[in-house]
Amino acid sequence: MEVMPTSAVAWSHVVLENFLKKDHLAVDLTAGNGKDTLFLARRASRVLAMDIQQAAMDKTEALLKKEAIKNAELILDSHENVSRYVELSEVDAFVMNLGYLPGGDKEITTTWPATKRTLNAILANMKFGALISLAIYPGHDAGKVESEGMEALIGALDQKAYKVVKITFPNQNHCPPYWVGIARC
Ligand SMILES: C[S@@+](CC[C@H](N)C(=O)[O-])C[C@H]1O[C@@H](n2cnc3c(N)ncnc32)[C@H](O)[C@@H]1O
Repeated sequence: MEVMPTSAVAWSHVVLENFLKKDHLAVDLTAGNGKDTLFLARRASRVLAMDIQQAAMDKTEALLKKEAIKNAELILDSHENVSRYVELSEVDAFVMNLGYLPGGDKEITTTWPATKRTLNAILANMKFGALISLAIYPGHDAGKVESEGMEALIGALDQKAYKVVKITFPNQNHCPPYWVGIARC
């Protein structure tokens, strides 16, 4: 590893590496190219991975097949519908890497109204000790809106019920992505 991670996703993996246990259930709410799904599947017992794009499902499926991963289920649907597929109170880790599919259509991106609905549903139902990992990309238009909404949401969380950590990169140019972790306590 480099001296210390300098990206939001790298930090998310440092935290998740320490958090995840072999019997955990994890949900990747934005599967994209499948890198986070693969990371989770290697460390948890079972992983659900959602995305609204068939292209993302195809990429994720190919990566998991190449790595002989058998404990991940792919779901072509919006993360807003996550409770149709899993009991939110049974999930140990939720991962949301926001933005658009790297190498894909930049117009298809996560949006704050949908992200907010999903987060509010998870926050209201998550079990004690569960973790939400968020990689946030304020450097594009939809991402800026999402980031502003996120700041309001996390700033308003009851500190007796949720621990919130934010990792930022203050001397990087061009609104770098940052990481937020929310743990139910
Ligand atoms: C930055 S990418 C995710 C990267 C991915 N975690 C990886 O490891 O490659 C964001 C993904 O979110 C997906 N997305 C956008 N809106 C969504 C929604 N409402 N529900 C689920 N996925 C969504 C996009 O299609 C895109 O693939």
